[in-house]
Amino acid sequence: MVQMGRKGKNMCGIIGYSGRLEARQVLVNGLEQLEYRGYDSAGIAQMTKQSVEVTKAVGNVGALKRKLEKKEDVISRCGIGHTRWATHGGVTEENAHPHQFGKVTLIHNGIIENYKKIREEYGKEQFFHSQTDTEIAAMLIDFFYDGNPEEAIWKTVAQLEGSYAFCILFEDIPNVVYCIRRISPLVAAYAEEGAFVASDITALIAYTQDYFVVPEDTILVLTDEKAELHDREGEIVEPDLLHVKWDLTAAQKNGYPHYMLKEIHEQPEALHQTIAPRIKAGIPDFEEDQIPDSIFESVQQIKIVACGTAMHAGLIGKVLIEKRVRIPAEVEIASEFRYASPIIDQNTLVIVISQSGETIDTLASLRLAKELGAVTLGIVNVKGSTIARESDYVLYTHAGPEIAVASTKAYTVQIATLCLLTMRLALVKKTLGRGEINRDFALLKESMECVKRSLLLDPQIQEMTACLTEAKDLFFIGRGIDYALSCEGSIKLKEISYIHSEAYAAGELKHGTISLITEGVPVIAIATQESVFSKMISNIREVKARGALVILITKESMQVEESVFDYHFTIPEIADDYTPIPAAVILQLIAYHTSVRRGLNVDQPRNLAKSVTVE
Ligand code: G6P
Repeated sequence: MVQMGRKGKNMCGIIGYSGRLEARQVLVNGLEQLEYRGYDSAGIAQMTKQSVEVTKAVGNVGALKRKLEKKEDVISRCGIGHTRWATHGGVTEENAHPHQFGKVTLIHNGIIENYKKIREEYGKEQFFHSQTDTEIAAMLIDFFYDGNPEEAIWKTVAQLEGSYAFCILFEDIPNVVYCIRRISPLVAAYAEEGAFVASDITALIAYTQDYFVVPEDTILVLTDEKAELHDREGEIVEPDLLHVKWDLTAAQKNGYPHYMLKEIHEQPEALHQTIAPRIKAGIPDFEEDQIPDSIFESVQQIKIVACGTAMHAGLIGKVLIEKRVRIPAEVEIASEFRYASPIIDQNTLVIVISQSGETIDTLASLRLAKELGAVTLGIVNVKGSTIARESDYVLYTHAGPEIAVASTKAYTVQIATLCLLTMRLALVKKTLGRGEINRDFALLKESMECVKRSLLLDPQIQEMTACLTEAKDLFFIGRGIDYALSCEGSIKLKEISYIHSEAYAAGELKHGTISLITEGVPVIAIATQESVFSKMISNIREVKARGALVILITKESMQVEESVFDYHFTIPEIADDYTPIPAAVILQLIAYHTSVRRGLNVDQPRNLAKSVTVE
């Protein structure tokens, strides 16, 4: 079984810089871009000629900025910055990064599993200031440091169990940042303005679109002249350069009040970018993705493994694949899959779906699937991410950067990609002919067009959400593919509005959950499937009869009596299997406006983080 990390999560955002610019500005800007990775507390270390100046604040980067205003006389060209998602030790200034020990100042993303043991072993208990697992790394590096920084780093990591991405400053080595990582992500770049390192490219995009992933088992050295990789022997390692097509404007709000709303509105373009390059004569073609048809030929079963919203996209994929390709497809929650005993062989195609490409449970599942001999295919948004690099084959989604913690455009492009994959599989497996696939693709395109129509519903949805703001509980119901979509609608709403919400297969409601439906309880009913429409209407009547406030989503042409709903939103007339993409947009807008009305932090909901890089 593949084991990584330990229980608990620690995401955090990291930035490091050495160059010609004022370091404070670079670090703070970078942290603002990375804030979605964690926002409990933040801190930076600025290296000056005399010292290493550390400033930390509890709260978001804004709080740190206010503190830094009082330190404007600190001028520096090199430094490191961190935004924290607390695990080991509460949200306090002492526990915020950077941590200092002797000559060493350091920031960390990851979890050091054996920190307690090391803390006891070295008998330095009285010198620690925090409850974090991180501080022992600063202590160890300082302990081993005798003028050779890289040696001290190698000796330290040899003692550590767990995951880490470190950026390290040595008091007596001016303007140099040393970095090393295991599992936790780090990317680096050298641009006109200097050398940069960060947890992800969003923090560097203001300076460059070219970057590289810091390989494990190498030390990255940043100076104002270079970003260089060294192996254990001190030899230079040439990086594999990557390029992203999007630029800084893609990572900004561009006039929208929140990233989430901006990303909801970006869906037509994101879908187009993802689909268009892969269509030849109306048929999905993965030649440019270097995915040969031969990998599909022997596939006898499919496992789709993912977390959160990506897993919900998988639920839609399962329905489509089983219907069109007629091979069994199971959706597995990655954190369960990795500790189960999955039945997998070389005839199994394991599809891992991940926006970030770094989710630790999804990554561990991918490694397990490979170990068991499956063919693995990643559907990933972030170029060069670990899951993308480790999957046998990758289909990149081209949604551009997704900053809001609540995933929106990543979800719809994942569904669209699964649609393409289904069509290609059906072609190879000969369950559909070319003509049928042409028709299928036309339907997918139509559903993508309908997203624009759903976006036009924004004002009506905004108005409707007034009835949800005081809700304590809420239910989503649907059948078939609408049930799969309900799961996503429910998580979206609860994660940003903090209203308890559940998704139910509409027919299952009467086996328990209907006892929770009382006067005024909102039920969001998704009824876009012709084949089960009348059943859905009966289920809706059942909740309506018990006083539910019903928000109904159907296709335009579906006839419904006014007595069964309180609010009614429609999507255009499209084929049943392709309704989730435009219907998802309605659900995203419901979640968004409910959160805004409740005065909550839409983009950074409490306790959550965008990229879950430790178990
Ligand atoms: C976190 C995010 C979710 C996301 C999930 C999986 O929980 O808040 O929005 O769906 O991780 O992330 P991934 O990057 O693997 O798609």
